[in-house]
Amino acid sequence: MGKWAARGCSLPCLSVVQNDIIFKGTFMTTNNYTPQNPYEIIYGNEESFHRIDEIICGTEKLPDDGKCGILLYGAFGTGKTTLAKMLPECIEMGRTNGGLNMPEKFIGCQQGFNGPQVTTLLDKITSTVSLNVSGLHYVILDEVDNLSKQAQQSLKSVLNTKRAIFILTTNNISPARLLLI
Ligand SMILES: Nc1ncnc2c1ncn2[C@@H]1O[C@H](COP(=O)(O)OP(=O)(O)OP(=O)(O)O)[C@@H](O)[C@H]1O
Ligand SMILES: [Mg+2]
Repeated sequence: MGKWAARGCSLPCLSVVQNDIIFKGTFMTTNNYTPQNPYEIIYGNEESFHRIDEIICGTEKLPDDGKCGILLYGAFGTGKTTLAKMLPECIEMGRTNGGLNMPEKFIGCQQGFNGPQVTTLLDKITSTVSLNVSGLHYVILDEVDNLSKQAQQSLKSVLNTKRAIFILTTNNISPARLLLI
């Protein structure tokens, strides 16, 4: 099972299970289990599960008080991207009882994506009016640890909006690599 590692940060930190998974008493590898919703994801610990549940139900408000993101972290193949893609629809449903009117924006972070490019792209998204009933944009930043230090610094300044919820994934939460934390 993945190990929970709470850190002081401006984003809720969530871990997901590591390596192969055990589900309903049967040993299953990640190749033969396809979760359909966040409640079928196997979490690294109870706290992560409850945190996700509270965000979906709206008990934990986002964006709120400088918090506008969720950081999912765990080793390779632990379901981070899968969960990240499920969350926008579920969060919108939890807030409005309806689905997304506009799809989430998925950004696969690659090396070489520089600070101004990150800022321009995210500013462009958040400056438009969301068609969602919640009024929120949903943005997934996958493998955010691939960004350069400069790009991560720029991201930090953009992640301070009330107009969007950001879902970030990473394999690496080392403060040296990830300045967000
Ligand atoms: N914690 C988990 N709960 C349920 N299914 C899982 C879990 N981890 C992995 N899986 C299964 O493995 C598949 C691949 O996971 P996914 O690509 O989302 O992992 P990842 O953490 O994003 O990997 P990477 O670090 O390589 O990007 C999922 O679609 C699912 O079938
Ligand atoms: Mg992934």
